[in-house]
Amino acid sequence: MIPIKTDAEIKCMREAGRVAATILDKMVAAVAPGISTYELDQLGARFMEELGATSASYNYKSGKHSYPCYTCISVNEELVHGIGSLKKILKQGDIVSIDVAVFYNGFVGDNARTVVLEPVPANILHLVKTTEEALYVGIAQACPGNKLGDISSAIQQFVEKNKLSVVRDFVGHGVGRDMHEEPQIPNFGKPKTGPILKAGMTLAIEPMVNLGSHKVELLSDGWTVVTADRKPCAHFEHTILITEKKPEILTFLKK
Ligand code: MF3
Ligand code: CO
Repeated sequence: MIPIKTDAEIKCMREAGRVAATILDKMVAAVAPGISTYELDQLGARFMEELGATSASYNYKSGKHSYPCYTCISVNEELVHGIGSLKKILKQGDIVSIDVAVFYNGFVGDNARTVVLEPVPANILHLVKTTEEALYVGIAQACPGNKLGDISSAIQQFVEKNKLSVVRDFVGHGVGRDMHEEPQIPNFGKPKTGPILKAGMTLAIEPMVNLGSHKVELLSDGWTVVTADRKPCAHFEHTILITEKKPEILTFLKK
């Protein structure tokens, strides 16, 4: 069963979304040549503390390994769940994905963005722009009466039309009191399949897109996911609410 949030829960989800988006925005502003991914993660932890949020990723358990960082920072061939390191110092030409998932007043806001440290080649800008657009293409399908597969297939078709590949091994997800709720939201699939979407569902839609092959591998640290061909990749994510009208992006920062 996909949970339908009550009005009270939606109010909390809006706040959690706003806080998650604020933290991601502040971290993105700190991305610059010379900063290590460890320092960037620590900065994220500090922003969480200042805003009264806690990390949903820190100590998150999957299998044997609990996740050791407050945010996920993944560079170049790293797709998701990169681990901050003092030795990993950002430099010109890097592609940096930051994923911020926080608890705020008992609810989770989850969002991610990929930024580049200019200058980067045109194919990298195409990769990043297409992945961001794919997120909005997917969100546009999040309407009552549509099916989950409509989101998945819209993302896949858009990405493949742009000569890039969608990752199969990691998916978006329902989000609420827990970071991962039903349903799983693949970035590939067939239209008009899967569960019917309803107002009140809150979903984290997150296209992960590779420049080369769609295949990924897990590094021996048990967390870092890299592209199998070690080519660059990108990742964008929003937490959204399905409404009777247009989907509401809960992690969209109004400035
Ligand atoms: N925020 C990620 C997601 O979109 C997961 C957090 S990373 C983990 O689902 F380390 F906690 F798994
Ligand atoms: Co997520």
